[in-house]
Amino acid sequence: MVSLLLYMAILAPGISGNDGQSTVLKPTSPTIHNHESVFTVPPDADIGMNILPNINDPEAVDPQKVCPGYIALGVKSTTTGLTANLALAGPACNVYGNDIDYLTLVVGFQADDRINIQIQPRYLGRENETWFVLPEALVPRPDDSSRVTESSHPLEVSWSNEPSFSFTVTRKETKNVLFTTKGSVLVYEDQFIEFVSSLPDNYNLYGLGEVMHGFRLGNNLTRTLYAADVGDVIDANIYGNHPIYLDTRYFTNEKGGLVYAANATDKTAKYVSYTHGVFLRNVHAQEIILQPSSITWRTLGGSIDLYFYNGPSAEGITKSYQRSAVGLPAMQQYWTLGFHQCRWGYENWTVLNDVVDNFAKFEIPLETIWTDIDYMKGYRDFENDPERFSYEEGARFLSKIHGNNQHYVPIVDSAIYAPNPEDAADAYPSFDRGVEANAFVMNPDGSPYIGAVWPGYTVFPDWVGAVLNGSGAIDWWADEFIRWSKKIAFDGIWIDMSEVASFCVGSCGSGNLTLNPVHPPFQLPGEPGNLVLIYPENFNKTNATEAASAASALAAQTQTATTGVTSTTTAYYRTTPTPGARNINWPPYAINNYHGDLGVHALSPNATHHGGAVEYDFHNLFGHQILNATYQALLKVFSGKRPFIIGRSTFAGSGKWAGHWGGDNESLWVFMFLSIPQALSFSIFGIPMFGVDTCGFGGNSNYELCSRWMQLSAFFPFYRNHNSIGSISQEPYLWDSVITATKKAMHIRFLLLPYMYTLFALANKDGSTVMRALSWEFPNEPWLANADRQFLLGGAVMVTPCLVQGASTVDGVFPGVGNGTVWYDWYNSTAVTGVQPGQNITIDAPLGHIPVYLRGGNVIPVQEPAMTTADSRNNPWGLLVVLDKGGAAAGILYLDDGESLTPNATTWVNFSATIGSLTARPHGNYMDKNPLAYATVLGLSHAPSKILLNGEVLDASLWKYSKEKNLLSLGGLNTRFSKGAWSSSWNLSWE
Ligand SMILES: *[C@@H]1O[C@H](CO)[C@@H](O)[C@H](O)[C@H]1NC(C)=O
Ligand SMILES: *[C@@H]1O[C@H](CO)[C@@H](O)[C@H](O)[C@H]1NC(C)=O
Repeated sequence: MVSLLLYMAILAPGISGNDGQSTVLKPTSPTIHNHESVFTVPPDADIGMNILPNINDPEAVDPQKVCPGYIALGVKSTTTGLTANLALAGPACNVYGNDIDYLTLVVGFQADDRINIQIQPRYLGRENETWFVLPEALVPRPDDSSRVTESSHPLEVSWSNEPSFSFTVTRKETKNVLFTTKGSVLVYEDQFIEFVSSLPDNYNLYGLGEVMHGFRLGNNLTRTLYAADVGDVIDANIYGNHPIYLDTRYFTNEKGGLVYAANATDKTAKYVSYTHGVFLRNVHAQEIILQPSSITWRTLGGSIDLYFYNGPSAEGITKSYQRSAVGLPAMQQYWTLGFHQCRWGYENWTVLNDVVDNFAKFEIPLETIWTDIDYMKGYRDFENDPERFSYEEGARFLSKIHGNNQHYVPIVDSAIYAPNPEDAADAYPSFDRGVEANAFVMNPDGSPYIGAVWPGYTVFPDWVGAVLNGSGAIDWWADEFIRWSKKIAFDGIWIDMSEVASFCVGSCGSGNLTLNPVHPPFQLPGEPGNLVLIYPENFNKTNATEAASAASALAAQTQTATTGVTSTTTAYYRTTPTPGARNINWPPYAINNYHGDLGVHALSPNATHHGGAVEYDFHNLFGHQILNATYQALLKVFSGKRPFIIGRSTFAGSGKWAGHWGGDNESLWVFMFLSIPQALSFSIFGIPMFGVDTCGFGGNSNYELCSRWMQLSAFFPFYRNHNSIGSISQEPYLWDSVITATKKAMHIRFLLLPYMYTLFALANKDGSTVMRALSWEFPNEPWLANADRQFLLGGAVMVTPCLVQGASTVDGVFPGVGNGTVWYDWYNSTAVTGVQPGQNITIDAPLGHIPVYLRGGNVIPVQEPAMTTADSRNNPWGLLVVLDKGGAAAGILYLDDGESLTPNATTWVNFSATIGSLTARPHGNYMDKNPLAYATVLGLSHAPSKILLNGEVLDASLWKYSKEKNLLSLGGLNTRFSKGAWSSSWNLSWE
């Protein structure tokens, strides 16, 4: 990751925070130059205490060695669970907080695939309850109304007091221990909880995000969960927090029993897999330490509220997790599946208009144009810059693009500018109304907490106070959106900086508002001397001089940054527990936070919410609750329509309100690869509307990377090209090869839109996933446990992208072939043959070609592409009938108006093909008038003598059969379906 680190160094020349690195420095927009004459927040304002993370601290005490654990007393078994009291088993260790003497344990068999193990303090004083018990108003508990008896449950929970309290979760069928704290002590303090489970050799864990990492987490990784404004640094704690993992275990069937297969590589053996899921309902800062044979879970507060999902399929767990715990993902409007173009640095409406025109000129579909913070007046939410982004010109531009069925999405930041009280011209009514509504987070003394973000010194909306205490942030936020929507006809909202980021430690703006607006405490790319020099790996620039000068500048900058690091003092700030009190700013246990001190580049842990709750206890929820507030706001702005929101910081459950983009990646090949594991992880998290900054955000892209990436992202639900101002432009029309590659991939995407939309409808209905890992769909192939360079869209479409610079082939597997799965090449409709299970096949992938395969057994409805999704929705239909080995296939299609929250008409169409026949059965009242134009049957091994539609023989001119390809093609069907392809049931048969 040398290049990444170099890039980080370049972004932050001369800044040496306590970790020697900076972060997410978004490149400047031209207006930032206004700041040059103004006060700059001093760089040291964002430096906190020099903290050494516990996991790197040779002096750190291991709680397992010093803590006494607990003893269970008064254990009561009921038919649906058990309860017990736990008492500290010896003198308190007070290792990273104050031990809680007495706890209660509640084990509940809550549903037939789920159990809950809850441990919390026995005596909860009301005032301190939220330290321990996460309010359901903020994060609901799963429904437990359908309790089942322990005897009928697939999982079993046992406990022991030898040598101290431990619990064990076992799967009855396999007698496999899923989770056991045996051999470890339970540590339960006011600022530190630790429990440890052993895990089998070579375990396969997935989830525990948000992290830039391969899909399988490996057996040696510390995952820190603490929302941070950190630009996609590999393995660091970044924007979102999802304390859930899936654990997949492979077994062989031997001597009548299942034997755990730790190194399941024998491709001739028969394997079965069982997956279970573990969710910790806890919002505190956490650290999860994966070691070769154990998982150690640490949290800096809250309670143990663990949910075990039986599975045994990954799909079963993600469905159940979403249905029971976090909520089903929001249904998206149809248009949101179109292509989105964005960049930081679109400096005015004219530039935006040119970009839109260029897409039309090059005939590349464009659905939505976005603006980053360039449009804002002094970076203030809800105010457009009157010169560059006036409401009048905006109204004309938006009316034009809306007339083309195109859309517009602006960014909205999380912090609110606090205007200069001595400058009447600096008045900011949104701020005044927020103050009036008690909408902002406070200091412990009740004064406003004032940090610093893009506009200068800012305040922060208090979502926690609004939910728990009824203060005004959510209503105020909605009102601001309603007011602004009357001036600017946006179609969706992009929420940024929601970790929540602040560029200084503490309330640095208190007493300083008369300096506002102020410049951030670091130099921005685009400002003099701050060049963006990164090019994709192995990039060979034809202009050698530029490359050479880039290299020497890079070396110089790296030098500076390195010097900064070595000069850092090694006097670390450590704290020890104070009896009876918490140290919330500097907790005794130091997590491996990317920014070090918890208060760096974020709201301080002691920032105070209305009602008295402190940020320490709710930090990981800011990004989640701003999505809730924005969802409520957009419901008011667009009455009856599905809100379209893309957010940066997320928590378990954010998918019910919003989608997510992968954050500030770089124009590097490694980030294109990482987009796949990141997307698959967000499938687990219940946030299917996911995509990354295509062609890369930071650094300069090039035609090869951008061509590959535009093709790859065409198969991600959220498809957006986004870039930063310091970098060279990367709209897909800028390079010939990218134009061709983009059109080709977009053509496929548009054909598949009805399929993708149906996947979203299913996700919204029962929590099934949209992007899928190969191991989920083919659970009996252990060699797929690591597979994250290929993926499936739904169950029917497999994508095998080329992710390597300079390559013209890609190696890929064809899962399921050992069990008769047949794959068809999208481009030539022929079956892939001669492949062994797990075999890596070298596939041709010249630049401009992305290998895509269809899985036998599926009927896939397609619709003719157009320049926008709305126009495509008015085009004729087609059907791809992809037969399995036995000549059967099935599929489903969902239709509605594409935008209503509660559509008044919906239609589901079921397709089924058996030998010699295909039936479509619509049910529902949504009318789609487009005819069926064609149907293609792949994998038909004999030539039909005649073909009948609803029993009537079809003219031979309407179909042809290719023996060589086993392909039946029917065309010119439009007139037969003039009332619409799905207006009634029909049957197509061949003899
Ligand atoms: C509750 O918190 C206060 C500090 O706010 C502390 O003094 C007190 O000991 C706590 N009570 C319990 C039961 O933890
Ligand atoms: C575990 O990861 C750490 C940090 O990346 C590394 O230094 C160490 O060598 C790894 N240990 C093993 C056994 O791979």
